[in-house]
Amino acid sequence: MPLSEYTMHNIKEFRLQDIQERLYKSKAVAILTGAGISAESGVPTFRGKNGLWKNFRPEELATPEAFKQDPRLVWEWYDWRRRTLAQFKPNAAHLAIAGIEKRIKEFTLITQNVDGLHQLAGSKNIIELHGNIWRVRCLSCGKITVNRVVPIKILPFCECGGLLRPDVVWFGEMLSDSNLTKAFVAIDNCDLMFIIGTSGIVQPAASFALRAKDEGALVVEVNIEKTPLSASMDATFIGKAGDILPQLL
Ligand code: OAD
Repeated sequence: MPLSEYTMHNIKEFRLQDIQERLYKSKAVAILTGAGISAESGVPTFRGKNGLWKNFRPEELATPEAFKQDPRLVWEWYDWRRRTLAQFKPNAAHLAIAGIEKRIKEFTLITQNVDGLHQLAGSKNIIELHGNIWRVRCLSCGKITVNRVVPIKILPFCECGGLLRPDVVWFGEMLSDSNLTKAFVAIDNCDLMFIIGTSGIVQPAASFALRAKDEGALVVEVNIEKTPLSASMDATFIGKAGDILPQLL
């Protein structure tokens, strides 16, 4: 679809072309992504029809309590997720974001995804709010290492003898302070922020768009449907991230 045919649904009359112009005039850009950005790579989203959590109850598996009670079961589930993710490649939306980063002086990507596809696409300055499924953390010595072994040995142990866990944020766990601080700095300093492929209902990420707006940024959402955030956005472009984002380049 040509740029001019994308409509927008909010207060000011922005077309995608206008956003493209704004993008290349911007000094600092922040992008927040959610599961929707990886949907076109084949990764199931959390809350869609085929949402990951429909078949697997996260509250039973993605919690520190579950891991304490049955680390083998939790690792089997993570191994299944890792084996599934290992087949997927970055899509046009991931690549477009990496391309935007190359052209913008101050650029920060904040992602809620743990799939590592942004890195594979070439993104560099990434804040992974919920961790990364391709890293493991030792429960004894705390060492964090990259681990892309598929299938992973169940149970995996650190060289110090401690049990390893996935380096992701589980339900009931706090986000890292340093990640949050870095995210707030990026949000407060940016003049343009994109909110891409997230349902906008999981905090604190859901509040980032409003904070950016309060701090004076233009905030643009890209999603296949309206979200609870849409009404507060400067513009919402309805469509697939993989169709829309490459057109900003
Ligand atoms: P959700 O599954 O809640 O939302 C995915 C969003 O992507 C929805 O709004 C879809 O409409 C949109 N979407 C789907 N396909 C798209 C496409 N091709 N292009 C653009 N948008 C598309 O996922 P998140 O918002 O990322 O947390 O969920 C946030 C957090 O909730 C996750 O990180 C996870 C979960 O609990 C943890 O695991 C800690």
